[in-house]
This record gives sequence, structure tokens and C-alpha cells, in this order.
Amino acid sequence: MTTRSASPTDPTSPATEKDSPDGEPLYVLRSVERTFTKGGVSVHALRGIDLTLWAGEMVALEGPSGSGKSTLLQLLGALDLPTAGSIRFAGRELENASDRVLTRIRSEEIGFVFQHFNLIPTLTAQENVWIAMVPASTPHQAQVARAAELLDQVGLGHRVHHLPSRLSGGEQQRVAIARALANRPKVVIADEPTGNLDSKTGLEVIELLAELRDTAGVTVILATHDEEIGRRAERRVRLHDGRLVEDRAVTKARA
Ligand SMILES: Nc1ncnc2c1ncn2[C@@H]1O[C@H](COP(=O)(O)OP(=O)(O)O)[C@@H](O)[C@H]1O
Ligand SMILES: [Mg+2]
Repeated sequence: MTTRSASPTDPTSPATEKDSPDGEPLYVLRSVERTFTKGGVSVHALRGIDLTLWAGEMVALEGPSGSGKSTLLQLLGALDLPTAGSIRFAGRELENASDRVLTRIRSEEIGFVFQHFNLIPTLTAQENVWIAMVPASTPHQAQVARAAELLDQVGLGHRVHHLPSRLSGGEQQRVAIARALANRPKVVIADEPTGNLDSKTGLEVIELLAELRDTAGVTVILATHDEEIGRRAERRVRLHDGRLVEDRAVTKARA
């Protein structure tokens, strides 16, 4: 029994309602294909993916380099559209959505975390988080306060005024995670979030994502080719040559 299971009868769990198997899934992918064509050459990055993901899940997308993980995350993040098949996200078909709607979904409903952190080097930790909220209509002071609060939540309350160059890799990734959560997204999509970190720091970042999944009730989807990282998720989806070859729930042995 893990402390992370969100029982539908546990009123203290923020993920309870979202976890309901009776509700609509967060994502429904049907026969999704993504083919890149350049100079007459076609690369079939995804070759027919059927996948249903539920709100509140923590999913590891695994598979060797070139198997299609990043391509799939781009589609889940509404950054790219499939060349065939359909993707339903929170009740909407992404391939039918207008650019304006897709932009709004990306900025308000999805948080992104990258391997290389992608922080703005001239801004402090707090400013890096705050800037993600600028397009929103909330008052400036509230945004600044929320940035500080989020940094506190990721364990960086004492580093708010530091520039990225003064932070360790693990700390920079924590700032990026705080930034991803700024607009209270439904889902955080992380592409190899531990790829630039040593294994101990990487595991700490994964533990943080798992914790935020519990406290903020956010869905976490991360790509990794690190077996150890994959084991920390509760659902592991494996790709090979653009096909989904394995999808299993994990009984977690917590450290
Ligand atoms: N923009 C692109 N143009 C052409 N081919 C691409 C593009 N993006 C990815 N690919 C190809 O699609 C396949 C899957 O890539 P990717 O999704 O990046 O895999 P992974 O993240 O698992 O390493 C690879 O063969 C890659 O070269
Ligand atoms: Mg990749």
C-alpha cells in the first residue's frame, strides 16, 4: 500500500475527483500517427498509438532514443498535431481546434519541463516563475506572490532572488517545475527532466514531481530512457519504433 494512491473515498486527496474512473479521461488517443517528410523522405515517428490517460496519473514514457517519446510529448502538449488519428484532451479534439484555442490550451492548461531547464539567464528564480503568469489577467502583486509561494513549494524559498547561474542543476530544474505549475495546469509534461542531472538529483526531482502530483493534483507525464526513473512512476508506457509496446501499472516499492 503506498501513501500515494488516491482513494475515491479519501476526501483529503486533491486528486480524488479527477481520479474517478467514471469521469472523462484527460487524454484519449486513437490511431495517432506522426510522419515527418523532408526532401521526399518520410520518417514514421509514431505509427498508430492508442492510449488513454487519466487525470492525476503519473506516467513514464519509456523507450530507446528515437522511439518517438518526444514526438508523442509534443502532441500531448498541443505543440504539434498528428498526421493521422485523433487526440482528445479534456473533452476537445485537438486536431480540430483553432490556433487561438491551441495557444490558450498550451499556456493555461499545460506546463512544460525540459531537459535543459530553459530558464532565462538574466532573470532571478522568482522572475523566471513570474514571467509564465504575465499573459494571465491576475494582478501583478498576486503573480509575484504566487511565484514566491511556488518556489517555496519546490524547496527553493531561500533562493528566490538567485540567478540561474547561481543555482545547481537540480535547483534550476526545481525552478522550471515551479514555472510549469504557475498557471495551475491540468498536466505537466516533462521531456527527459532528469537527463542533465546526476542520478541522485534526478531521483529527487522525480520525487518532487510525484509529491506535486499528490498536493497540486496535477497529472504528470514524463519521458525517460532511465530505468530507475521509470520505476518511480505508477504507470509505464513503452514505445519502440513509434509503436506502443507495453503499458503497465507499477506496484511501487518506495525507498
Ligand atoms: N522534426 C523532425 N523532423 C524529422 N524527423 C524527426 C523530427 N522529430 C523527430 N524525428 C524523428 O522521429 C523519430 C522519433 O524521434 P523522437 O520522438 O525525438 O524520439 P525520442 O524522443 O524517443 O528519442 C526519430 O527517428 C527522429 O529522428
Ligand atoms: Mg526525446
